[in-house]
Amino acid sequence: RRLVVAIDGPSGSGKSSTSRGVARRLGLAYLDTGAMYRAATWLVLETGVDAADQRAVAELIRTAVFTISQDPTGPTIAINGTDVTQAIREPRVSAAVSAVATNLEVRADLIARQRSLIADASAGIVAEGRDITTVVAPEADVRVLLVADPAARVARRHAELGGVVDNEAVTDQVIRRDRDDATVSQFEAAAPGVSVVDSTHLTLEQVINVICALVDD
Ligand code: CDP
Repeated sequence: RRLVVAIDGPSGSGKSSTSRGVARRLGLAYLDTGAMYRAATWLVLETGVDAADQRAVAELIRTAVFTISQDPTGPTIAINGTDVTQAIREPRVSAAVSAVATNLEVRADLIARQRSLIADASAGIVAEGRDITTVVAPEADVRVLLVADPAARVARRHAELGGVVDNEAVTDQVIRRDRDDATVSQFEAAAPGVSVVDSTHLTLEQVINVICALVDD
């Protein structure tokens, strides 16, 4: 059976490590939809298109070619032939991504691409993002909303950045992006049929176990 697992959650909830771990354990492909919004944002910055010009941005993305490796042990993403796997994690991309992700034409375009990537995953897939359980794949076999207290999310993001950025700056980034993403993702309440998993007091291994147990049900 072709299994589809959908995982949503805010910044620092442990979504990416969890989703990759679940995909590895179950032998599924892995799709990071946030990486697609980040790659789109990288292209906007790279080409110098005015991020506020919604039509121009949408047109730039509509004609872009995304090349995505769905291997959970080493996912990569290229846009128009340039590998941007590393570049999309730069702070300038994180700072600009919400503006691109709230462009409704860009969203419609990327959601359509994500749906076909999920449909084409013959061995099944774990897809993670902000709107996978509700919009991209509401028919997924297992749907999870991964949450964590803001302090835990800030601490994780801080550790991911190698501890080099001061805690206050990381707090600002995490809280600001929660606010900027509020129109695309509502995490206060889970949609019907979506299981809420709180990772605040769990190890990565424990979160993966909880989600794999949902798959077995
Ligand atoms: O780095 P972080 O875990 O916070 O986020 P991400 O998964 O890399 O996603 C980056 C940004 O892409 C989010 O802040 C959203 O603005 C946008 N996004 C979205 O709008 N819809 C998705 N399904 C995934 C990401």
